Amino acid sequence: MKGIVEGVQKVKVHGYHSVGFMLVMGVIMVVVYLCGDDSGILIRFGFNGETEMVEDYSFEGCDFFNGSWVYDNKSRPLYKERQCPFMTDDYSCEKYGRKDLKYQFWRWQPHGCDLPRFNGTALLEKLRNKRVVFVGDSVGKNHWVSLLCLIDTWIVEPSHKVAEWHGSLITFRASEYNVSIDFYWEPLLVESNCDDPVNHRVRDRIMKIESIEKHANQWINADMLIFDSYSWWLEPNMTLLWGSFENPNKTIVESRRVTRYEMALKTWSDWLDTHLDRKKTRIFFTSLSPDHKEGGDWGKTMGENCYNETEPIMEEGYWGKGSDTDLMRTAQSAVQDLEKKGLNITLLNITQLSQYRKDGHPSINKRHWVTPTKLELANPVLYADCLHWCLPGVPDVWNEILYAYIRYKI
Ligand SMILES: *[C@@H]1O[C@H](CO)[C@@H](O)[C@H](O)[C@H]1NC(C)=O
Ligand SMILES: *[C@@H]1O[C@H](CO)[C@@H](O)[C@H](O)[C@H]1NC(C)=O
Ligand SMILES: *[C@@H]1O[C@H](CO)[C@@H](O)[C@H](O)[C@H]1NC(C)=O
Ligand SMILES: *[C@@H]1O[C@H](CO)[C@@H](O)[C@H](O)[C@H]1NC(C)=O
Ligand SMILES: *[C@@H]1O[C@H](CO)[C@@H](O)[C@H](O)[C@H]1NC(C)=O
Ligand SMILES: *[C@@H]1O[C@H](CO)[C@@H](O)[C@H](O)[C@H]1NC(C)=O
Ligand SMILES: *[C@@H]1O[C@H](CO)[C@@H](O)[C@H](O)[C@H]1NC(C)=O
Ligand SMILES: *[C@@H]1O[C@H](CO)[C@@H](O)[C@H](O)[C@H]1NC(C)=O
Ligand SMILES: *[C@@H]1O[C@H](CO)[C@@H](O)[C@H](O)[C@H]1NC(C)=O
Repeated sequence: MKGIVEGVQKVKVHGYHSVGFMLVMGVIMVVVYLCGDDSGILIRFGFNGETEMVEDYSFEGCDFFNGSWVYDNKSRPLYKERQCPFMTDDYSCEKYGRKDLKYQFWRWQPHGCDLPRFNGTALLEKLRNKRVVFVGDSVGKNHWVSLLCLIDTWIVEPSHKVAEWHGSLITFRASEYNVSIDFYWEPLLVESNCDDPVNHRVRDRIMKIESIEKHANQWINADMLIFDSYSWWLEPNMTLLWGSFENPNKTIVESRRVTRYEMALKTWSDWLDTHLDRKKTRIFFTSLSPDHKEGGDWGKTMGENCYNETEPIMEEGYWGKGSDTDLMRTAQSAVQDLEKKGLNITLLNITQLSQYRKDGHPSINKRHWVTPTKLELANPVLYADCLHWCLPGVPDVWNEILYAYIRYKI
């Protein structure tokens, strides 16, 4: 059975020249602000709440994650689905028949400040000679593909942007800048029987709760790490084991979700604390990406879901029951503990902003690795994907925020 990741072991994707539509920008007026504190000078192009800043701009005091979605068909989307050579069939909602395209036109507007306008050249210059690795599950891959699509239009020469698949690792190279931006498949962070990048749809999840070395050796030397791990933990029953898969010396079927999540994050953070070069590596941890599997949460009939949704939720502070606050707090405190130990780590707190986007999921408009049954076809709610995100879409905003950190906060 094919998993979420495409069923090819080694793929070379060459980019191609695409229309520089991002460069066609109507700069209407230039206003110069002098901000309080030590925040420096902000030059605003009167451009729908996006700004190009001078180098020393600081976002001190602004919470990127508190804001609202604004419909903006002038500056969005930031790229076109069909023109991105790194797009995969899991996120190409337009290609798979989605007719309402409004989901591509929402811009995130923090309450207290504007996000800087994404500039792929500036990002690649900042990352020159560096290796960035996204580590996690298919939502992390969604995040990574979004970043490649955002960067794509800024690299004109196709041979200068190449992605290659090596088992659990997919490497993207921007050769002019000697930058690698990789994705590493590791859905539970610790070693597990779900680690095969292609065939990982196992019914009984078994993890070696104290083992991470095999994976960590693949990314520990990176300059920047972006982790995520959430949805795979929602399974009610998972088996924890010590020793090896072949010769376990101790096994527990631990039923408390939060306990096993804590244990895995402890293994993960102990490893980072011991092995990471603090002076070299910058870390981000992406907070849980919410799903929209339970329509009852936002006033639909129970049993309905994101299928047929075309508008975001506009109620400020909306929170779905599928977003486990215990796991969220566990991850947050793991991040805070590492920060106290002197690691450069930041929580990308994207949960709330993503909660609003019940319209942002592929639903039935994606490639289905398992052909839907007659029953499902008659009732599409049953096979709608309400977990991943269409691209262009929500993960682009996660990357705009990541960009703001990389460009102005590192
Ligand atoms: C978000 O910003 C609004 C307006 O500035 C403020 O009233 C609210 O308390 C903030 N919410 C959080 C969770 O910080
Ligand atoms: C953008 O949206 C506005 C308001 O919905 C609409 O009037 C306008 O025609 C749209 N423009 C484009 C280029 O789609
Ligand atoms: C993007 O950033 C580069 C490097 O900082 C700069 O030279 C260029 O003018 C920027 N482009 C836009 C459209 O802002
Ligand atoms: C290219 O980047 C890698 C890190 O990804 C670094 O080890 C290497 O020294 C860089 N090469 C050059 C020529 O700077
Ligand atoms: C989980 O384990 C419990 C107790 O062993 C069992 O009753 C239940 O059916 C299991 N749930 C699933 C989804 O396998
Ligand atoms: C089981 O084996 C692992 C690895 O060999 C070891 O770290 C752990 O302490 C052992 N646990 C028990 C209960 O013997
Ligand atoms: C980590 O943070 C410290 C303190 O803010 C800073 O001095 C150092 O340069 C940072 N290191 C990296 C790799 O970002
Ligand atoms: C989906 O939306 C269409 C158009 O609004 C409507 O005709 C159809 O009944 C809806 N289907 C479901 C299952 O809600
Ligand atoms: C992350 O956002 C949530 C609201 O979505 C808030 O409750 C929490 O305090 C935030 N965490 C951090 C570390 O800012």
